[in-house]
Amino acid sequence: MLLLPAILALIPFVAASAVPSELSELLSDDWPLNGKGPTDKQIVQQTMNTLESLYKKNNTVIDACTKCKSTLEIGKAISSTKPDLIPEIFVKWCKDNEILSNSTCETTFSRGAITASRSGTDFGNMLQLMDPWSIDGDYFCYFSLSQCPLPETPKVDLSSWWPPKNESNATIEYGTETFNVLHISDFHIELDYLPGSEANCTNNWMCCTDHTYNKNIKPESVNNSAFEFYESYYNEDGEFVKGHDITNENFNESVWFPATEFGHYKCDSPELLVNSSLKSIAQFQKDNNMTFDFAIFTGDMVDHDLLEWIDYDMVIKSQETVMRDLKKYLPDIPVFSVLGNHDTFPYGQIAPHSSGHENLYTWNDELFADLWVGYDWLPFENYEQIKKHYTGYSIVTKSGLKIIATNSNTYYQQNFYTYSNMTDEIDPFGTLKFIVDELVESEAKNQKVWIITHIPFVGEDMLPTQAEAYKQIVTRFSPTTITGIFFGHTHKDQFNVLYAHDNKTIDNAIMNTWIDLTVTPIENYNPGWRYYEVDTKSKNVMNSYNYYMKLNETFTNHDEPEWLFEYSAREAYDVNGTWPKTSPLNATFWAQAVESIKNEKSMAQTYSDFSYRLSPYVPDCSKGKCSYYYCYVSSFTINEYNECVANKENLINY
Ligand SMILES: *[C@@H]1O[C@H](CO)[C@@H](O)[C@H](O)[C@H]1NC(C)=O
Ligand SMILES: *[C@@H]1O[C@H](CO)[C@@H](O)[C@H](O)[C@H]1NC(C)=O
Ligand SMILES: *[C@@H]1O[C@H](CO)[C@@H](O)[C@H](O)[C@H]1NC(C)=O
Ligand SMILES: *[C@@H]1O[C@H](CO)[C@@H](O)[C@H](O)[C@H]1NC(C)=O
Ligand SMILES: *[C@@H]1O[C@H](CO)[C@@H](O)[C@H](O)[C@H]1NC(C)=O
Ligand SMILES: *[C@@H]1O[C@H](CO)[C@@H](O)[C@H](O)[C@H]1NC(C)=O
Ligand SMILES: *[C@@H]1O[C@H](CO)[C@@H](O)[C@H](O)[C@H]1NC(C)=O
Ligand SMILES: *[C@@H]1O[C@H](CO)[C@@H](O)[C@H](O)[C@H]1NC(C)=O
Ligand SMILES: *[C@@H]1O[C@H](CO)[C@@H](O)[C@H](O)[C@H]1NC(C)=O
Ligand SMILES: *[C@@H]1O[C@H](CO)[C@@H](O)[C@H](O)[C@H]1NC(C)=O
Ligand SMILES: *[C@@H]1O[C@H](CO)[C@@H](O)[C@H](O)[C@H]1NC(C)=O
Ligand SMILES: *[C@@H]1O[C@H](CO)[C@@H](O)[C@H](O)[C@H]1NC(C)=O
Repeated sequence: MLLLPAILALIPFVAASAVPSELSELLSDDWPLNGKGPTDKQIVQQTMNTLESLYKKNNTVIDACTKCKSTLEIGKAISSTKPDLIPEIFVKWCKDNEILSNSTCETTFSRGAITASRSGTDFGNMLQLMDPWSIDGDYFCYFSLSQCPLPETPKVDLSSWWPPKNESNATIEYGTETFNVLHISDFHIELDYLPGSEANCTNNWMCCTDHTYNKNIKPESVNNSAFEFYESYYNEDGEFVKGHDITNENFNESVWFPATEFGHYKCDSPELLVNSSLKSIAQFQKDNNMTFDFAIFTGDMVDHDLLEWIDYDMVIKSQETVMRDLKKYLPDIPVFSVLGNHDTFPYGQIAPHSSGHENLYTWNDELFADLWVGYDWLPFENYEQIKKHYTGYSIVTKSGLKIIATNSNTYYQQNFYTYSNMTDEIDPFGTLKFIVDELVESEAKNQKVWIITHIPFVGEDMLPTQAEAYKQIVTRFSPTTITGIFFGHTHKDQFNVLYAHDNKTIDNAIMNTWIDLTVTPIENYNPGWRYYEVDTKSKNVMNSYNYYMKLNETFTNHDEPEWLFEYSAREAYDVNGTWPKTSPLNATFWAQAVESIKNEKSMAQTYSDFSYRLSPYVPDCSKGKCSYYYCYVSSFTINEYNECVANKENLINY
């Protein structure tokens, strides 16, 4: 019979790259199954002792990054034999060593549950799949735990995935007619939005619920007694009903800035705002005697509440409500949607089929396959494809344009399942291969393609290796086959230009992206949407038209708000009218806009105004608030952006 070693005295942590023998002995498979092996409590205790010695304040021999990877190595050993112990160990480790805030430690590492968004189970799964001493560990310790420096991006080369580019393919023919496409994004419906609650909270990014509050006592000089609240709603027929006055029930004197019915600058969208935005679109079609050919919706239905307040049922209800409202107000046009980083549960997670954990997420793929096919937005032929590609699909519209839709959680740095086998496998989800195959097929037919996805390639939310892969794909297939790329996610109205060889001159512009303005006002934006006028033949965007609502006016006027024309890109960015009327708003057009933003303060301010939809919080370029604009609009990936901002000459100060 093996004798269990007494809980070992602290042993200094010597070998950084190995699990100490006292621990690995406890985890060994050799223990008889007769109950005489170590108890869970002993394993946890030994692990905590090991981690404690690793993180001793005076342990300066090992740097923070190595400590982080050593911790993952230890976690991997435990996860492979005793995965149930991971949450307890890592919550404690995270708090004891102040790796993240206590509440983030809880939601990141606690065991998965349907009552709150906690990703400890996924973290344990990730540990089993990852190699902590490879780029997996480097990236995880950088992005999720801020313990390592950003590693150099490993070489990515997809060129063997496609035939060489045929330059004689490059002529683009334009038609003489256009059709219209609606682009909406980021509803982030706040189901428990409460009029009268604190819209200036300090305990969360998103306010306006009964559990968000301001930690500071409101002085008497701030007098809110003039605020009124109504129980407003849109009825079955989509008519606005102001509803009865609930000021007496909902007024709370201690609130700094009370939430009113249509939303607030630090709150997500109450359903009233979701409906108001959709009704304004329906009304626009009616007023202009037109219908959009189709709509693209670039994701994010669930709100930004504290993760402890996000539960499984609420996620599904948010998703179903937004989809239902879209169908209600736009009954006659297909809506091509993608999921955002919020549209899963727990937050940000989805697992590749090959991981062995896909069953945790198939509920979401099935829900959307049912909704999209059920609402007649996609034909039944897409059903299996939606499930196979994590809600990604391709569809050819009635004008012959192909739309490729993907789930950007496949490259989101907060999805734990992206950190496995990164050295050998650039495409664990198969999404890149799916896109490339679709593009090769379309190119051969001279078919035009739009790509829709949630997270822009330029942001820090995207893994750099994946950004590089997308850049190679877009470079290869633009501008002849790929004629549009559409995102949401940032909540700002923005764009980026991709240049050949990273040579940022107008001549070298290859492709541009469209980052949509959003319905959610978080943070400090007016709600809005836009549509594109698209050339029937080249499928190039000829113009875009943005509409918005002055949210601050709804704080005092409780009638249905008006949605106003904001700007058209052709007029706004070609102030001198030199861009030919017959030329599309392609990468060359946007590269000229990049130059104007770089060189003219007034144009940078225009871009700033539009980013925020003329809200009271527009950054003022005269006050140095626009320094990063040039780098943002002239970069396609996070690496390019980082390189750009590292050069002070690129930071514009007018
Ligand atoms: C760290 O400090 C502890 C006492 O607090 C001591 O026992 C240990 O030897 C020190 N370790 C190193 C690496 O200096
Ligand atoms: C975080 O949790 C640790 C351990 O439970 C506790 O000692 C510490 O005071 C907490 N920190 C804050 C800021 O609440
Ligand atoms: C290149 O494209 C042209 C026309 O677009 C076609 O005639 C030619 O066969 C293509 N070349 C190759 C190698 O496919
Ligand atoms: C707040 O303003 C109202 C008028 O809007 C006034 O009647 C009330 O006395 C004020 N309350 C305080 C505490 O100043
Ligand atoms: C919001 O609250 C802070 C205190 O937390 C206060 O300084 C600020 O003036 C408030 N702003 C508004 C608009 O109520
Ligand atoms: C709307 O357009 C249709 C066809 O384009 C036309 O027949 C009809 O007269 C138009 N109605 C109005 C009110 O302009
Ligand atoms: C890593 O990816 C490579 C290439 O796809 C594959 O052959 C290998 O089996 C994977 N390894 C693991 C541990 O999943
Ligand atoms: C474009 O080039 C590719 C690769 O050479 C070829 O397969 C395709 O047929 C060409 N497309 C057209 C429309 O000529
Ligand atoms: C960048 O492109 C321009 C043409 O637009 C060319 O004159 C210049 O030599 C290129 N620079 C580099 C470094 O390739
Ligand atoms: C954009 O359109 C103009 C005018 O048709 C054309 O000269 C230019 O080459 C196009 N640019 C790109 C990147 O396709
Ligand atoms: C418009 O024309 C004026 C006067 O020629 C010039 O200074 C300015 O740079 C031009 N603006 C753009 C965006 O081309
Ligand atoms: C709303 O904000 C805009 C932009 O700051 C401002 O011009 C307008 O006066 C504000 N309206 C109200 C009612 O506060």
